[in-house]
Amino acid sequence: MEFVRLDGERLTLVFALEMGGTADLAYLGPRLPGSEDLASLAAASARGRHESQPDMPPRPGLLPERKLGWSGTPAAALRRGDARVETDLRMTGWDVQAGALAVRFADRLAGVEATVSWRIGAGDVLRCGLALGNRGDAPLEIERCAALALPVPARFTGLTSFSGRWAAEMQEHRRPITPDGFARASASGKPGFAGAGWVLLHAGEEVLAAHLAWSGDQWLTLEPDSQGAADGRAVLMMGAGCDPGEVVLAAGESHASPEAVFTLAPDRSALAQAFHAHVRGAVLPARATWSPRKVHLNSWEALGFNLSEPALIALADDAASLGIERFVLDDGWFGGRRDDTTSLGDWTVSPQVVPNGLTPLIDRVHALGMDFGLWVEPEMVSPDSDLYRAHPDWCLHTPGRERPTMRGQLALDMARDDVRDYLFERLDALLRDHAIAYLKWDHNRDLFPSAPGQTRGFYALLDALRAAHPHVEIESCSSGGGRIDFGVLTRTHRVWPSDNNDAIERLRIIPAWSQFLPLEVLGSHVGPSPNPITGRRMSMDFRAKVAVFGHMGVEADPARMTEKERDCLAAHIAIYKQWRGVLHEGRLHRLAHPDPNVTGMMVSHADKALALVAQTAFSPVFDAAPVRLAGLDPQARYRVTLAEPWPPRAKHYLAGADQWRTGLTLSGAALMGHGLALPLTHPETAWIIALEKIA
Ligand code: GLA
Repeated sequence: MEFVRLDGERLTLVFALEMGGTADLAYLGPRLPGSEDLASLAAASARGRHESQPDMPPRPGLLPERKLGWSGTPAAALRRGDARVETDLRMTGWDVQAGALAVRFADRLAGVEATVSWRIGAGDVLRCGLALGNRGDAPLEIERCAALALPVPARFTGLTSFSGRWAAEMQEHRRPITPDGFARASASGKPGFAGAGWVLLHAGEEVLAAHLAWSGDQWLTLEPDSQGAADGRAVLMMGAGCDPGEVVLAAGESHASPEAVFTLAPDRSALAQAFHAHVRGAVLPARATWSPRKVHLNSWEALGFNLSEPALIALADDAASLGIERFVLDDGWFGGRRDDTTSLGDWTVSPQVVPNGLTPLIDRVHALGMDFGLWVEPEMVSPDSDLYRAHPDWCLHTPGRERPTMRGQLALDMARDDVRDYLFERLDALLRDHAIAYLKWDHNRDLFPSAPGQTRGFYALLDALRAAHPHVEIESCSSGGGRIDFGVLTRTHRVWPSDNNDAIERLRIIPAWSQFLPLEVLGSHVGPSPNPITGRRMSMDFRAKVAVFGHMGVEADPARMTEKERDCLAAHIAIYKQWRGVLHEGRLHRLAHPDPNVTGMMVSHADKALALVAQTAFSPVFDAAPVRLAGLDPQARYRVTLAEPWPPRAKHYLAGADQWRTGLTLSGAALMGHGLALPLTHPETAWIIALEKIA
């Protein structure tokens, strides 16, 4: 047995490697001293054989298999023709260098090779994958290939999974890890509104989280060692869904899983910071050269399908007067698309909307100092479209059967070269012919009947367009947050977290996504009041304060706002511009408060920090407990102000208003331990707290 360790800044992983045997994870936890005796460490957690176990107790390790009597699900499921391939993969060697370990396995009898790769990177996030190779003569079909098989340290006893629906993404469900385990799978051809690709495991405050960087179907299992066949540890596995026949390897070929990532951290704020470091350093394209995230105005909740050149120009003029920096023309600008029943696939500018094309509108937008963005939904086709009439066979369908629609549309078969060539030609022409800085790339139908190769086809199209137009920023939208994952984020610049712009709902949805994603990729728009999805009426002050904490935008018609509302919105856009350097570079802290209806988050960066504290429901008490901040230097002194404008009703209850305006001076220790007493008793009240370190 040999031991190999990978060290991050905070974490250590120790692997126990046995030539001709298995590869196991002997330690996963806080960083160990360099002098740690790894053999003793492994011995300290080794288990003796007990009753009702195979005589040689199996260790599932990094590549669980059924061999030797392990009763869980294997990491790889393989077939040759009609026969299942029962593997016995034995370790043949490993390479370790600069934070990366690759362990090689082979089963010469079955003609299969496997390589498990783990690499520790930015934020101490582990990036894991499994590659399978066919070393036999006959084709080898892969039915299952776990990107990650993680023996979970037994101290993790709780699990948070996520579910979601349209307009209510990422709902958290916490439960104990029970002996019957946990399994999730998505089947709509994309991760879905929460999907199977995100999970948290808890050991008290300590938290371990894993994610699959893949924009298609996926599965996740957590299998406790309930029958006691192994050593008592659960195994967490995740991988991409494989349709029958999707991955068949000819002799000599190999297949690599998408990347799965995981990390662990002492608490959920530290976990968010770890994933944000990973996303900023390793996922987002060209993050290092990004310019500040521009304030958007999106036409969807302002004009819907009532698009005309005069209406769009009036909207652009209004947008510019508020301080907007990017004007995004949403659905309805192409073909005969005057409502959502028609014309997807006909990606030509409609003269009914803009008689002289998009250029005069774009010129006006530029003259107003903004850049221009456009909505597209490339992977879809409306049955009522020229594209469908010309190519009825291009959509996903089963010959001879009905073609059920969703939102009146069908999905194109992205595995077809001719479909991707057509879409590339149309999108490339749009981007070549117009000064388009940004695409909102939507996807509003589940993929059924399922067909192999859709996600790879989507990635291929996106990659080709990005190579041809490297300066165009792209948003991943899928009826809101239906396709959000680190796979799509390696190719895009932001995501649309939800169609639900209701600020109360956003106070749940944004913190949920921000567990994994930094604020600069989370589109965060001020919607209309009443909100079109929830019907709630909310003050502009509340809506705008909540929207500052993300990539801010406006998705409402300023012409329908009062003068006061416009002033309030413009003031918050100015706050966003002043503070986005902090919000988009800094460390996010989740603020705890005894009232479950108070949500707090805070971002600290260098010598500054900005916090949002928001009350959503009527408080049972007159005086809510002081808000305790986080992530500050306890010894440093800070100037603390409440960013203006202040919430109109609540400000009457603020004691010593002048001091909050000129600034209180408090130590980090006092701010974190004692807190700030703010009026938080009215529903829909939010405060923005600004902090600057005093030299
Ligand atoms: C989807 C998106 C919305 C909007 C509409 C347009 O629902 O999520 O933001 O773009 O499509 O049809």
